Amino acid sequence: MNTNVEASLNHQINAEEHSSRLYFSMAAWCDKHGFEGSAKYLFTHAEEERMHMIKLVHYVSERGGTVLTDSLPKPQNEWDSILAVFTEVLAHEKKVTGMINSIFEVCMQEKDYLTSNFLQWYIQEQVEEESSARGVLDKLTLAGNTQGGLFHFDKELMAMAAASAIKPAL
Ligand code: FEO
Repeated sequence: MNTNVEASLNHQINAEEHSSRLYFSMAAWCDKHGFEGSAKYLFTHAEEERMHMIKLVHYVSERGGTVLTDSLPKPQNEWDSILAVFTEVLAHEKKVTGMINSIFEVCMQEKDYLTSNFLQWYIQEQVEEESSARGVLDKLTLAGNTQGGLFHFDKELMAMAAASAIKPAL
């Protein structure tokens, strides 16, 4: 496997694991602050990020590359509000989209068309993840910063988490 592509994929393996830990951390914050539905939604999201990581691990192995796990940054543990949590989810997903686009560029430079084809799944996934994060932020804005509004928002997220089976990445 091309060494630049392999290095980029290994970097993304770590980034997906970091995303998972960040969402676990957010879920724990929500749990602690009484947002049970938001916690469930974010725990589910954290599991999805692990699936994204595992899919990459399998791909690198299948192509004869070497998976190199690395140390991870400490995820943030504190937020000022539920709005701050979900604002960060969207910002984080936009960052991940940029990362996937960068790997795609490396594949194009290195003429690794198989990997660019494999990455289409992640590109589509990022469209869905950004859209979902925007949708949650819209709900939160509509709910306003009132106890009743936030109660209904959290109930909606509980329903969303229950409805979303974790997408198999393999
Ligand atoms: Fe694996 Fe949310 O991107």
